[in-house]
Amino acid sequence: MPRIIDVRSDTVTQPTPAMLEAMLQAEVGDDVFGEDETVNELQRAAAELFGKETGLFCPTGTMSNQVGIKVHTQPGDEVICDELSHIYLNEGGGIAANSGASVRLLRGHNGRFTAEQVRDNINRRDDSHLPWTRLVAVENTVNKGGGSCWDLRELERIRSVCTENDMAMHLDGARLFNALVARNESPRDYGRLFDTISICLSKGLGAPAGSLLLGSRALIAKAHRQRKLLGGGMRQAGYLAAAGLFALEHNVKRLQEDHAKAKVLEAELRSLPYVCSVLPVETNIVIFTLQEHLSAEAFLKQLQHQQVRALSMGRQSIRFVFHLDVSDAQLEMLLQALRGIGVPAP
Ligand SMILES: Cc1ncc(COP(=O)(O)O)c(C=O)c1O
Repeated sequence: MPRIIDVRSDTVTQPTPAMLEAMLQAEVGDDVFGEDETVNELQRAAAELFGKETGLFCPTGTMSNQVGIKVHTQPGDEVICDELSHIYLNEGGGIAANSGASVRLLRGHNGRFTAEQVRDNINRRDDSHLPWTRLVAVENTVNKGGGSCWDLRELERIRSVCTENDMAMHLDGARLFNALVARNESPRDYGRLFDTISICLSKGLGAPAGSLLLGSRALIAKAHRQRKLLGGGMRQAGYLAAAGLFALEHNVKRLQEDHAKAKVLEAELRSLPYVCSVLPVETNIVIFTLQEHLSAEAFLKQLQHQQVRALSMGRQSIRFVFHLDVSDAQLEMLLQALRGIGVPAP
């Protein structure tokens, strides 16, 4: 068992021997010529799962999101998203840089907004002063919302608002499978609501790299060109796609184990004197804040001494993420480490 318990992110996982074996056995070709059969199979399988026409394999979630936004917008358009969203906060200003679009930020509840908020923030198209509101982007689960899950009925209401107003919907589904497992939902529920969906293979699913953008044939044809512009056309990418296929087959159901561990940690945190608040835990992410006199930086240093690596989400906020490389024994060690932390009195 590794000595370090790395709960900074679910992106830190190592491919298992079985996944590596699947990669080794992959049939590959030049995907820029469309000749990598394993990439083609992954794109087909993922699209089929969500009831979409086709898909595009991208190296990262950032790229599949950025390409997704680009295919729906023109420079001067506006994108509606939550103020916590990854596409706004953590993709290097890509909405502006890649699509030339502006952003209308909504303040939702842990990253989730309502159809009414969307309706209230759509610009009239008959006023030439205003950017055209073209796209609503949703993140599920919401990373900075503590892995929170959307309510499907709210998404249906937002879909109606978008349809009425000639707007598209994009889903940043980097951790969509966590939401599907936690809420016992079907991928097709999402496929029918969203015009484009980005899913990541390299987070909870444990593949070393890779993301997919799913949509109609027409949108994915546009996306193919945009991926090229961003330098995302890969050659024998089938080795990575094989890991993705393996992950979809073997690593989806087990996400509930990560969720269960996160719940145990949530209960422990609520009993610790130095914890101020914990965001409600639904999936594999646990975000909590420390009492006022404590800094995240000092706290993380103490944890590091106990062989635990976590991430700061602000001056007093900490994130733990569970994934397939955290064992039951390591969870127990993590709880012991948290109990053993000495903090200065206020
Ligand atoms: C919600 C969300 N979307 C998109 C991404 C981007 O994924 P990548 O790191 O593969 O670019 C991340 C990465 O952590 C994420 O958390």
